[in-house]
Amino acid sequence: MSLLKPRLSPVLTQDVIDTLRKQGVRTVLDFLEHNAEEMVKKAGMSYKDVLAIRHVLLAQYSAVPVNGADMYEDALNSMAILPTGVKSLDTMLDGGLYTSEVTELVGPAGVGKSQLCMYTSLNISRNLKQNIMYIDSTGDFCIQRLQDILYSDQVEDETNAFYQHLKLVIVDSLPAVVLPVLGGAQTDGHGYLMHLARMMKTLAVDFNLALMTTNNVVQGEAGETKPALGRAWSHIPNTRVEIKKQDITPDGENRRTAVLTKCSRQPTGLTAEFTITPSGIETYHS
Ligand SMILES: Nc1ncnc2c1ncn2[C@@H]1O[C@H](COP(=O)(O)OP(=O)(O)OP(=O)(O)O)[C@@H](O)[C@H]1O
Ligand SMILES: [Mg+2]
Repeated sequence: MSLLKPRLSPVLTQDVIDTLRKQGVRTVLDFLEHNAEEMVKKAGMSYKDVLAIRHVLLAQYSAVPVNGADMYEDALNSMAILPTGVKSLDTMLDGGLYTSEVTELVGPAGVGKSQLCMYTSLNISRNLKQNIMYIDSTGDFCIQRLQDILYSDQVEDETNAFYQHLKLVIVDSLPAVVLPVLGGAQTDGHGYLMHLARMMKTLAVDFNLALMTTNNVVQGEAGETKPALGRAWSHIPNTRVEIKKQDITPDGENRRTAVLTKCSRQPTGLTAEFTITPSGIETYHS
């Protein structure tokens, strides 16, 4: 809420502002909420001066009306869908990761969250030629693994992937950043988490980025597993994917099932199966 300041209008002097303050009128909104006659009495100004100030404040602080159809058109033009490169997962996500949104991968240790982050970043940088910012808070990012996947695909010149635009920010993992401050002074930790969440949302929308985060699981009171970052955080991701391990077969395949548990486009409960292999991540057809 903007405070009344001198120089907004030639007649809005510091003396007038001080007088208004004593009358409980501190902000632009306070001024505009009162009708002109009341302000004449409160400020001891002429009717003409009050109208002049109102005129300037309305011109400077009113929201500009925007046509809904234009907004929709702009949103469509600026939106991008970034495929993860894992077919089953992209089908489940209606194309992949959406810019202006936060997508969260949830799952226990070793389920493949970091593998998916690395695979997705490689797919987007190599095939879409888009920049990725990879924030690795646990040291799981493995350049050797990226090289293995690239090599297995026989990509000869990986330097061709010239990064032009930043489109994806990955935070792997978020609990590693947040949990250390969630202990002890709970209220501070909660505030910090919400501040981070707001910044992530703002970043995603203002810069038209897709944000991908990973979240671990903890055991609930009834022995069930639940996301480590709790209920307050659960409102933040636009899309949430929970990943579970399947049995490892004798030939060493690492099968995983991803379940869509939150999404505004697709029905929740959709699943995707994939396998983590030495050459990357592949859709698994049962
Ligand atoms: N080169 C590889 N070939 C086949 N499978 C691999 C390879 N590298 C990793 N994996 C599989 O990926 C798993 C590790 O996945 P990842 O590190 O992504 O887990 P995570 O969900 O990020 O765990 P954490 O919560 O501990 O960070 C391994 O247990 C293995 O099953
Ligand atoms: Mg990891």
